[in-house]
Amino acid sequence: MLVYLNGKYVPHEDARISVDDRGFLFADGVYEVVRVYRGRLFRMGDHVERMRRGLDALRIGFDGVDGLGTIAERLLAENGLDEATVYIQVTRGASPRAHAFPTPTPAPTVYVATRPFGGYPPEYAEQGVTTITVPDTRWSRCDVKSVALLPNVLANQQAKEAGAFEALFVRDGVVIEGSLSNLLGVIDGTVVTYPACNYILPGITRAVTLELARALGIPVREGPIRLEELHRVEELFLSGTTTEVMPIARVDGRLIGDGRPGPITRRLREAFRELTA
Ligand code: PDD
Repeated sequence: MLVYLNGKYVPHEDARISVDDRGFLFADGVYEVVRVYRGRLFRMGDHVERMRRGLDALRIGFDGVDGLGTIAERLLAENGLDEATVYIQVTRGASPRAHAFPTPTPAPTVYVATRPFGGYPPEYAEQGVTTITVPDTRWSRCDVKSVALLPNVLANQQAKEAGAFEALFVRDGVVIEGSLSNLLGVIDGTVVTYPACNYILPGITRAVTLELARALGIPVREGPIRLEELHRVEELFLSGTTTEVMPIARVDGRLIGDGRPGPITRRLREAFRELTA
C-alpha cells in the first residue's frame, strides 16, 4: 500500500516520522476518517471543513487542507481501492519536546493512508449491536477531532471486553455519544440526538442522518437523552463513518424497545445506503 507523507507517496513500510513529532509526544494534531463508496470520497467537503476548524482551534498552520481530496484520490487509484476508508492526520510537526508551540514554527506533519473497508457484517445491522455505558472522562473540546483519543480507546476496549460493539459516554446523566460514533434515539416518533456543541464530535454521518430524517418528514430534535429515560426510548442507533446507521439492541444488557431494529432506524439506514450506493 502506498501512503502519503509530507509531500511524498511512499510504500507504507517506508513511511517514517520523527520521534520529536508533536503528534507522538503530545497528541498535538487532528485527524479525519473518510469513507469511500464505489471509489468516491463520501462528503469529503464536510471532512475538509471539520479539519480546517480543528486546525484553527489548535492553531496549527496548514494551508494544504483543500488538496487532501486530490491526495486521497491518487492513493485510492494507486492502491486500487473502491470500498475503503481514508485516514488523514495533521500534527504540529517535529521539534524537541517543550509544551508551548515551537519557534520557529515547524512544517506540519501530513499523513494520508487508505485501507480496504466494506462495512461491518450485515448481521450487525440486522440484529442490532450491543453497547455499554461509561463515564465521559474526556476534555471539553470533543468537537475538535484531536488524535488525543485515550478516553475513547479505554472506553472502546471496555466495550470489547464486555462483548459489546460500542461504549456510550455519559456526562451529567446524559448519554451523549459513542467512543467512535454519535448516538441518536427515537422518542415519541421524534429523532433525538445531543446538540452539536463542545461535548461531542459533530459527526458528518450524524448531520447526513438528520438531513435524511427531515427529508423523510421524520421530526428531529437536538436535545439530551438521559440515561434514566433509556427504558422508554423507542429506538436507539449509532451513526458514524465506519458504523453508518447502526441499530442498537441493548444498552448495559437491557433491551431497547423489543430489541430489534425499529422502523425509523431501518428507514434511515435504508436511505443512507441509497445515498451511498
Ligand atoms: N470516529 N463521535 C466520535 C467520538 C468519533 O470519533 C466519531 C468518528 C464520530 C462520528 O463522526 P463521523 O460521522 O464524522 O465519522 C462521533 C472515526 C470514524 C474514528 O475515530 O475512527
